[in-house]
Amino acid sequence: MVNRTPLIAGNWKLHNDHLQAIALVQKLAWTLQDARHDHAAVEVAVFPPFTDLRSVQTLVSAEKFELRFGAQDVSEHDSGAHTGEVAASMLAKLECSYAIVGHSERRQDHGESSALVGRKAAAAVRHGVTPIICVGETEADLEQHGASAVPVQQLREALAELPAAGEIVVAYEPVWAIGSGKAATAEQAQQVAHALRQTIAEVRGDEAAASTRILYGGSVKSGNIAGFMREPDVDGALVGGASLDAAEFAAIARFQ
Ligand code: G3P
Repeated sequence: MVNRTPLIAGNWKLHNDHLQAIALVQKLAWTLQDARHDHAAVEVAVFPPFTDLRSVQTLVSAEKFELRFGAQDVSEHDSGAHTGEVAASMLAKLECSYAIVGHSERRQDHGESSALVGRKAAAAVRHGVTPIICVGETEADLEQHGASAVPVQQLREALAELPAAGEIVVAYEPVWAIGSGKAATAEQAQQVAHALRQTIAEVRGDEAAASTRILYGGSVKSGNIAGFMREPDVDGALVGGASLDAAEFAAIARFQ
Protein backbone atom coordinates (compact mmCIF):
# COMPACT_ATOMS: atom_id res chain seq x y z
CA MET A 1 0.00 0.00 0.00
CA VAL A 2 1.31 3.42 -0.96
CA ASN A 3 1.97 5.89 1.82
CA ARG A 4 0.57 9.30 0.89
CA THR A 5 1.95 12.15 3.02
CA PRO A 6 -1.01 14.27 4.12
CA LEU A 7 -1.04 17.82 2.78
CA ILE A 8 -2.65 20.71 4.64
CA ALA A 9 -2.76 23.67 2.25
CA GLY A 10 -3.81 27.22 3.11
CA ASN A 11 -5.29 29.24 0.25
CA TRP A 12 -5.14 32.88 1.32
CA LYS A 13 -7.11 34.03 -1.74
CA LEU A 14 -7.09 37.85 -2.06
CA HIS A 15 -5.87 38.54 1.48
CA ASN A 16 -2.60 39.83 2.94
CA ASP A 17 -0.08 42.16 1.27
CA HIS A 18 3.59 41.13 1.39
CA LEU A 19 4.18 42.68 4.83
CA GLN A 20 1.17 40.91 6.29
CA ALA A 21 2.35 37.73 4.57
CA ILE A 22 5.73 37.94 6.33
CA ALA A 23 4.02 38.36 9.70
CA LEU A 24 1.58 35.49 9.13
CA VAL A 25 4.20 33.05 7.84
CA GLN A 26 6.47 33.77 10.82
CA LYS A 27 3.64 33.34 13.26
CA LEU A 28 2.54 30.14 11.58
CA ALA A 29 6.07 28.67 11.53
CA TRP A 30 6.57 29.44 15.23
CA THR A 31 3.17 28.06 16.17
CA LEU A 32 3.88 24.85 14.29
CA GLN A 33 7.30 24.58 15.94
CA ASP A 34 5.99 25.32 19.44
CA ALA A 35 3.54 22.52 19.07
CA ARG A 36 6.41 20.18 18.12
CA HIS A 37 4.57 19.58 14.92
CA ASP A 38 5.75 16.42 13.23
CA HIS A 39 6.85 17.78 9.88
CA ALA A 40 7.62 14.36 8.46
CA ALA A 41 4.08 13.17 9.07
CA VAL A 42 2.29 16.05 7.37
CA GLU A 43 3.21 18.62 4.77
CA VAL A 44 2.00 22.17 5.38
CA ALA A 45 1.84 24.72 2.54
CA VAL A 46 0.55 28.26 2.13
CA PHE A 47 -0.74 29.94 -1.02
CA PRO A 48 -0.38 33.71 -0.79
CA PRO A 49 -1.15 36.19 -3.59
CA PHE A 50 1.52 36.41 -6.34
CA THR A 51 2.92 39.68 -4.98
CA ASP A 52 3.80 37.98 -1.66
CA LEU A 53 5.63 34.96 -3.05
CA ARG A 54 9.12 36.47 -3.17
CA SER A 55 8.85 37.71 0.43
CA VAL A 56 7.61 34.34 1.62
CA GLN A 57 10.36 32.52 -0.27
CA THR A 58 13.10 34.72 1.18
CA LEU A 59 11.76 34.16 4.67
CA VAL A 60 11.21 30.43 4.36
CA SER A 61 14.66 29.72 2.87
CA ALA A 62 16.52 32.07 5.24
CA GLU A 63 14.82 30.80 8.39
CA LYS A 64 14.63 27.20 7.23
CA PHE A 65 10.97 27.05 8.13
CA GLU A 66 9.45 23.66 7.45
CA LEU A 67 6.81 25.14 5.22
CA ARG A 68 6.06 24.85 1.55
CA PHE A 69 4.37 27.45 -0.50
CA GLY A 70 2.70 27.80 -3.85
CA ALA A 71 0.71 30.06 -6.14
CA GLN A 72 -3.05 30.39 -6.47
CA ASP A 73 -2.96 30.13 -10.25
CA VAL A 74 -0.52 29.74 -13.16
CA SER A 75 -0.51 30.54 -16.87
CA GLU A 76 -1.00 27.84 -19.49
CA HIS A 77 1.76 29.64 -21.44
CA ASP A 78 5.49 29.37 -20.81
CA SER A 79 6.32 32.89 -22.05
CA GLY A 80 5.35 35.47 -24.66
CA ALA A 81 2.78 38.18 -25.25
CA HIS A 82 0.34 37.29 -22.45
CA THR A 83 -0.19 40.39 -20.37
CA GLY A 84 -0.94 39.75 -16.73
CA GLU A 85 0.03 36.08 -16.76
CA VAL A 86 2.59 34.38 -14.51
CA ALA A 87 4.53 31.44 -15.96
CA ALA A 88 5.19 28.13 -14.22
CA SER A 89 8.93 28.58 -14.88
CA MET A 90 8.79 31.80 -12.83
CA LEU A 91 7.08 29.96 -9.99
CA ALA A 92 9.65 27.17 -10.20
CA LYS A 93 12.47 29.71 -9.91
CA LEU A 94 10.79 31.09 -6.78
CA GLU A 95 10.84 27.58 -5.28
CA CYS A 96 7.06 27.26 -5.39
CA SER A 97 6.19 23.62 -4.79
CA TYR A 98 2.60 23.91 -5.95
CA ALA A 99 0.16 25.89 -8.09
CA ILE A 100 -3.59 25.75 -7.53
CA VAL A 101 -5.49 25.46 -10.83
CA GLY A 102 -9.22 25.49 -11.52
CA HIS A 103 -10.39 26.91 -8.21
CA SER A 104 -14.16 27.40 -8.49
CA GLU A 105 -13.71 31.13 -7.90
CA ARG A 106 -11.58 31.32 -11.04
CA ARG A 107 -13.98 29.10 -12.97
CA GLN A 108 -16.80 31.47 -11.92
CA ASP A 109 -15.02 34.85 -12.13
CA HIS A 110 -12.96 34.15 -15.26
CA GLY A 111 -14.98 31.49 -17.05
CA GLU A 112 -12.16 28.95 -16.89
CA SER A 113 -13.01 25.66 -18.57
CA SER A 114 -11.74 22.29 -17.39
CA ALA A 115 -9.65 22.03 -20.57
CA LEU A 116 -7.91 25.31 -19.71
CA VAL A 117 -7.43 24.07 -16.15
CA GLY A 118 -5.79 20.95 -17.58
CA ARG A 119 -3.48 23.03 -19.78
CA LYS A 120 -2.48 25.13 -16.76
CA ALA A 121 -1.78 21.94 -14.82
CA ALA A 122 0.31 20.67 -17.76
CA ALA A 123 2.34 23.91 -17.75
CA ALA A 124 3.02 23.47 -14.03
CA VAL A 125 4.08 19.83 -14.51
CA ARG A 126 6.44 20.87 -17.37
CA HIS A 127 8.35 23.03 -14.90
CA GLY A 128 8.36 20.74 -11.88
CA VAL A 129 5.59 22.57 -10.02
CA THR A 130 2.88 20.25 -8.72
CA PRO A 131 -0.59 21.41 -9.76
CA ILE A 132 -3.46 21.16 -7.29
CA ILE A 133 -6.41 20.60 -9.61
CA CYS A 134 -9.65 21.82 -8.02
CA VAL A 135 -13.00 20.31 -8.90
CA GLY A 136 -16.41 20.56 -7.29
CA GLU A 137 -20.13 20.78 -7.85
CA THR A 138 -22.52 23.67 -7.21
CA GLU A 139 -25.64 23.23 -5.11
CA ALA A 140 -27.71 22.99 -8.34
CA ASP A 141 -25.34 20.30 -9.70
CA LEU A 142 -25.69 18.40 -6.44
CA GLU A 143 -29.48 18.42 -6.63
CA GLN A 144 -29.53 17.52 -10.31
CA HIS A 145 -26.70 15.02 -10.68
CA GLY A 146 -25.58 14.01 -7.16
CA ALA A 147 -22.18 14.84 -5.70
CA SER A 148 -19.71 12.94 -7.87
CA ALA A 149 -20.81 13.47 -11.49
CA VAL A 150 -19.61 17.05 -12.05
CA PRO A 151 -16.28 16.77 -10.16
CA VAL A 152 -15.49 13.51 -12.00
CA GLN A 153 -16.30 15.10 -15.38
CA GLN A 154 -14.20 18.19 -14.56
CA LEU A 155 -11.27 16.00 -13.57
CA ARG A 156 -11.60 13.80 -16.67
CA GLU A 157 -11.54 16.87 -18.95
CA ALA A 158 -8.54 18.36 -17.15
CA LEU A 159 -6.59 15.08 -17.17
CA ALA A 160 -7.13 14.80 -20.94
CA GLU A 161 -4.76 17.78 -21.31
CA LEU A 162 -2.04 16.31 -19.10
CA PRO A 163 0.86 14.02 -19.89
CA ALA A 164 0.61 10.59 -18.27
CA ALA A 165 3.60 11.24 -16.01
CA GLY A 166 4.13 13.95 -13.40
CA GLU A 167 2.81 14.45 -9.89
CA ILE A 168 -0.59 16.04 -9.43
CA VAL A 169 -2.80 16.72 -6.40
CA VAL A 170 -6.59 16.86 -6.70
CA ALA A 171 -8.77 19.00 -4.45
CA TYR A 172 -12.46 18.26 -4.10
CA GLU A 173 -14.14 21.53 -3.14
CA PRO A 174 -17.95 21.50 -3.31
CA VAL A 175 -18.85 25.05 -4.28
CA TRP A 176 -21.71 25.14 -1.77
CA ALA A 177 -19.29 24.40 1.08
CA ILE A 178 -16.77 27.14 0.28
CA GLY A 179 -16.88 29.99 2.77
CA SER A 180 -20.40 28.95 3.81
CA GLY A 181 -19.61 27.37 7.15
CA LYS A 182 -21.52 24.34 5.83
CA ALA A 183 -18.83 21.72 5.22
CA ALA A 184 -19.55 18.44 3.48
CA THR A 185 -19.73 15.47 5.81
CA ALA A 186 -16.66 13.26 5.98
CA GLU A 187 -18.71 10.52 4.30
CA GLN A 188 -19.67 12.81 1.39
CA ALA A 189 -16.03 13.86 0.95
CA GLN A 190 -14.93 10.22 1.00
CA GLN A 191 -17.55 9.21 -1.57
CA VAL A 192 -16.41 11.85 -4.06
CA ALA A 193 -12.69 11.38 -3.31
CA HIS A 194 -13.13 7.66 -4.03
CA ALA A 195 -14.84 8.42 -7.36
CA LEU A 196 -12.03 10.85 -8.24
CA ARG A 197 -9.41 8.21 -7.42
CA GLN A 198 -11.18 5.72 -9.67
CA THR A 199 -11.12 8.33 -12.45
CA ILE A 200 -7.38 8.82 -11.99
CA ALA A 201 -6.95 5.02 -12.17
CA GLU A 202 -8.90 4.88 -15.44
CA VAL A 203 -6.93 7.71 -17.05
CA ARG A 204 -3.44 7.44 -15.52
CA GLY A 205 -3.32 3.89 -14.17
CA ASP A 206 -3.56 2.21 -10.77
CA GLU A 207 -0.12 3.25 -9.56
CA ALA A 208 -0.79 6.93 -10.17
CA ALA A 209 -4.21 6.62 -8.53
CA ALA A 210 -2.70 5.02 -5.44
CA SER A 211 -0.03 7.71 -5.05
CA THR A 212 -2.08 10.82 -5.91
CA ARG A 213 -3.18 12.90 -2.94
CA ILE A 214 -6.80 13.99 -2.88
CA LEU A 215 -7.73 16.91 -0.62
CA TYR A 216 -11.07 18.07 0.66
CA GLY A 217 -11.84 21.81 0.79
CA GLY A 218 -14.85 23.79 1.96
CA SER A 219 -15.33 25.23 5.47
CA VAL A 220 -12.55 23.11 6.99
CA LYS A 221 -11.83 24.08 10.61
CA SER A 222 -9.84 22.60 13.50
CA GLY A 223 -13.13 21.16 14.77
CA ASN A 224 -13.93 19.06 11.69
CA ILE A 225 -10.53 18.19 10.15
CA ALA A 226 -10.08 14.94 12.11
CA GLY A 227 -13.25 13.46 10.61
CA PHE A 228 -12.07 14.13 7.05
CA MET A 229 -8.60 12.76 7.75
CA ARG A 230 -10.01 9.47 9.00
CA GLU A 231 -11.43 8.76 5.53
CA PRO A 232 -9.25 6.43 3.43
CA ASP A 233 -9.34 8.50 0.23
CA VAL A 234 -8.96 11.95 1.81
CA ASP A 235 -5.28 12.89 2.10
CA GLY A 236 -5.49 16.43 3.41
CA ALA A 237 -7.33 19.71 3.12
CA LEU A 238 -7.38 22.89 1.09
CA VAL A 239 -8.29 25.53 3.65
CA GLY A 240 -9.51 29.05 2.88
CA GLY A 241 -10.73 31.34 5.66
CA ALA A 242 -9.26 29.32 8.53
CA SER A 243 -5.78 29.51 6.99
CA LEU A 244 -5.63 33.26 7.68
CA ASP A 245 -5.38 32.62 11.43
CA ALA A 246 -2.01 31.08 12.38
CA ALA A 247 -3.26 29.32 15.53
CA GLU A 248 -6.32 27.88 13.80
CA PHE A 249 -4.37 26.77 10.71
CA ALA A 250 -1.68 25.17 12.89
CA ALA A 251 -4.42 23.35 14.80
CA ILE A 252 -5.81 22.05 11.49
CA ALA A 253 -2.32 20.84 10.57
CA ARG A 254 -2.18 18.89 13.86
CA PHE A 255 -5.31 16.94 12.99
CA GLN A 256 -3.84 13.69 14.32
O1 G3P B 1 -9.46 26.87 -1.58
C1 G3P B 1 -10.01 26.83 -0.31
C2 G3P B 1 -11.43 27.11 -0.28
O2 G3P B 1 -12.06 27.51 -1.41
C3 G3P B 1 -12.22 26.79 0.90
O3 G3P B 1 -12.49 27.99 1.52
O4 G3P B 1 -13.02 29.45 3.39
O5 G3P B 1 -14.45 27.46 2.92
O6 G3P B 1 -12.18 27.14 3.84
P1 G3P B 1 -13.08 28.00 3.01
